[in-house]
Amino acid sequence: MNPNSTLSLGPSEADLVQAADLLRAGQLVAFPTETVYGLGGSALMGETVAGIYAAKGRPSFNPLIAHVASVDAAKDLVQWSDLAARIAAAFWPGPLTLVLPLREGHGVSSLVTAGLPTLAVRVPAHPTAQRLLSLVGGPVAAPSANPSGRISPTTAAHVHHGLDGKIAAVVDDGPCGVGLESTIVGLAGDAPVLLRPGGLAVEEIETVLGQSLLDRDQGDPLTAPGQLLSHYAPNAAVRLMADAPQSNELYLGFGARDGDLNLSPSGNLAEAAANLFDCLHQLDARNIPIAVAPIPDHGLGHAINDRLRRAAAPRD
Ligand code: TXA
Ligand code: MG
Repeated sequence: MNPNSTLSLGPSEADLVQAADLLRAGQLVAFPTETVYGLGGSALMGETVAGIYAAKGRPSFNPLIAHVASVDAAKDLVQWSDLAARIAAAFWPGPLTLVLPLREGHGVSSLVTAGLPTLAVRVPAHPTAQRLLSLVGGPVAAPSANPSGRISPTTAAHVHHGLDGKIAAVVDDGPCGVGLESTIVGLAGDAPVLLRPGGLAVEEIETVLGQSLLDRDQGDPLTAPGQLLSHYAPNAAVRLMADAPQSNELYLGFGARDGDLNLSPSGNLAEAAANLFDCLHQLDARNIPIAVAPIPDHGLGHAINDRLRRAAAPRD
């Protein structure tokens, strides 16, 4: 993208229609929420989600939050529960994210969940975010709109400073009111878990629930961010940098090195990132050792190789 080509948009209806059109076309658009500015891209499009990681320069794939306009839109994506209904009724729209099991037919790219069977969803309260999400009409994945390792942006100027030339547009609607990321509550296990403290006080949530939230170390290891690094790991052994498979191995190809599956026959790293988790799941289902072709270690290749190394790491 041309270095000066990041559009500056405002909160007018015409601008939000333009921003929504860009998002529906698979472009990246930063937008304000009541917590921090988010770097948005369609959660349904794998290569767009790969573009989010590329724009942030994130060295690894951590799961992202899917933003939607309403509780009903959230229910299309995740398996709803009584507990979710109670918390959502009290705090949505607002600075709260819920992690719930994915629902069948959700359509969300596996790069959003980093291969997990759960999805983080949030209905932001900011009127501009609300309007934009309604116009998009589908889930928008959005981490904080800062380059990896830098502080979260609470003004459009922060976003421009970090991401100009890397994303299609920034919607400027002034400073964010909360200035802290959303509180994340995990509802995928037996008991509700606090996965990340944030803009909504834990005590308020506990009052509504009438019970305390588990610490994330006590919760379901599969849903605690600290544990995500070892997950998703295939059951089968994984061998990296393989020029060719051995006779007992399935081969995950890249570029001209074709295999049982190919992350990207044209050698495109964004396509490879978008396909990574689905390919690993498909090969893993066959319960045969997996050899993986070399992936160039630049751009998105860093994050792909990071994830592949975790998949290949010895485990108990
Ligand atoms: O306030 C916010 O939440 C902002 C605005 C833009 O909405 N977004 C944000 O996104 O902070 P991000 O990507 O910086 O943080 C997402 C967090 C990560 O810590 C990730 O580990 C956790 O959500 N997360 C996402 N999906 C998860 C899942 N399925 N299970 C457990 N944790 C998950
Ligand atoms: Mg962040």
